[in-house]
Amino acid sequence: MSPYLLTRTLPENATGAALRADVLQGLTRTPRMLPPKWFYDARGSELFEEITRLPEYYPTRAEREILIARASEIAASTGARTLIELGSGSSEKTRHLLDALTGLHSYVPVDVSESALAGAAEGLLAEHPALQVHALIADFTAGLELPDTPGPRLVAFLGGTVGNLLPAERAAFLSSVRALLAPGDALLLGTDLVKDGSVLVKAYDDAAGVTAAFNKNVLTVINRELGADFELDDFDHVARWDPEREWIEMRLRARRALTVKVRELDLVAHFEAGEEVRTEVSAKFRQEGVRAELASAGMTLTHWWTDEAGRFALSLATVV
Ligand code: AVJ
Repeated sequence: MSPYLLTRTLPENATGAALRADVLQGLTRTPRMLPPKWFYDARGSELFEEITRLPEYYPTRAEREILIARASEIAASTGARTLIELGSGSSEKTRHLLDALTGLHSYVPVDVSESALAGAAEGLLAEHPALQVHALIADFTAGLELPDTPGPRLVAFLGGTVGNLLPAERAAFLSSVRALLAPGDALLLGTDLVKDGSVLVKAYDDAAGVTAAFNKNVLTVINRELGADFELDDFDHVARWDPEREWIEMRLRARRALTVKVRELDLVAHFEAGEEVRTEVSAKFRQEGVRAELASAGMTLTHWWTDEAGRFALSLATVV
């Protein structure tokens, strides 16, 4: 009996088709934009792990601090027997939850990256040999079919990644999470919090230039996957805090007028000097906003925990 199952709900070519559609749309609209999910090839995932260790990038450390302090409270108030983790990635933070959730029967990591899932599942099984691990290769923004595992269910969406969704996408996403939950189930949601703009900009424009390399990596992905000829040195990394919308935007700005060919799309794109492509929105939150968004999706905020410095929050919500 193998305690580790891997289920693929994405067709093998789904990623390629989605990338083509996103790049075609994103480079032909005004203003130009590319969705942040295309940062995360093997190199991009590595660069992100490096970002989490930068002195300026506080969210990962702040969230870990909260998880360590609150894991037993989370375990006691949810009594979870199944943990579903959306965008599980390397599952590093999950360890704190798995150690605390003593009644856990099944762990369901969900990610679009098969390599991330396989690596994470193996590591976890070594430490929790009795745990059923049912990994899902799936796009969690597209509606999930979950395996038949015992409740109560706890859905975890950590890292502040919910902030990468635009407000309308966020509302649709939270409603789709709500649809997975029955009475007695819960959602654990990590959100970065509104703070001084200069602290935020430094977190997304670090001195060592790792975030710049991460941002430009999307061009490397498009070059490789779609036969484009972006020159990385033609673009500058830009991080801007938008105080009205309370989000950070990352952009790539053309240093000079230039033309890019994307062979697989038969596309030629002209950039003016200074023209920008938006590559990521990372929204920052306040408690009242999170409470209201959860309520709109049919969930009730029951716990709100922050790190000592008040930079990041973990929310626990139940269904109404
Ligand atoms: C982990 C996806 C939430 O938005 O802060 C880090 C990604 N982008 N530096 C974030 C990211 C630039 C990160 N998320």
